[in-house]
Amino acid sequence: MADLIAITMKINGEPVSATIEPRQTIADFLRSTMGLTGTHLGCEHGVCGACTIRLNDVTVRGCLTFAVQCDGMEVETIEGASESGRISDLQENFVSRNALQCGFCTPGMVLSADELLADNADPSREEIREHLSGNYCRCTGYQSIIDAIETTAKQRHERLGDE
Ligand code: FES
Ligand code: FES
Repeated sequence: MADLIAITMKINGEPVSATIEPRQTIADFLRSTMGLTGTHLGCEHGVCGACTIRLNDVTVRGCLTFAVQCDGMEVETIEGASESGRISDLQENFVSRNALQCGFCTPGMVLSADELLADNADPSREEIREHLSGNYCRCTGYQSIIDAIETTAKQRHERLGDE
C-alpha cells in the first residue's frame, strides 16, 4: 500500500483533515469518507459529468481529480450548493419543468448550470447547450433541462428589474 498523505481542505465551508491514499479521487473521498453521496459516479473516466463538483469556484470532474490535489482548497458539492440557497430557484425549475427523471445526472447538471448562470446571466439556448455539453443525461432528452435553465435566467432577470 502506498504511503498515506495528510490533507486539509474546506468542504462546503467546513474545515476537514484526513489521511488518505494518494490515488483516491475526490469523488470517492466525498462519497465514502464524507458521506456526501450527491456527487455521483457514472463513467469514472471524465466523460459523463455526473461527478461534477466545484473546486475553488470552478467546476471539475471529481472522478479525474485526486483528493490530494484538493489539499488547501475549497470544495463545494451539490449538498453545499443546496444548503447555501443559491440554487433553490434552479432546483425548483428542474422539478417544475420535468428536467429530471432518474436524477442521476442532476447534481452535475445543476452545478454546471449554476456555473453558467454566474458567468452569463442571459445565456441563449445554444450557449446553455454548449455549457452542458460535458454533462450526459440518459433520460430527459435535454430539452426540459435547457427549459429549466432558461426559465431560471429569465426569472432572475425579472427579479433584478423589479428591484
Ligand atoms: Fe466523472 Fe463520469 S463519473 S465524468
Ligand atoms: Fe436520468 Fe438524467 S435524469 S440521467
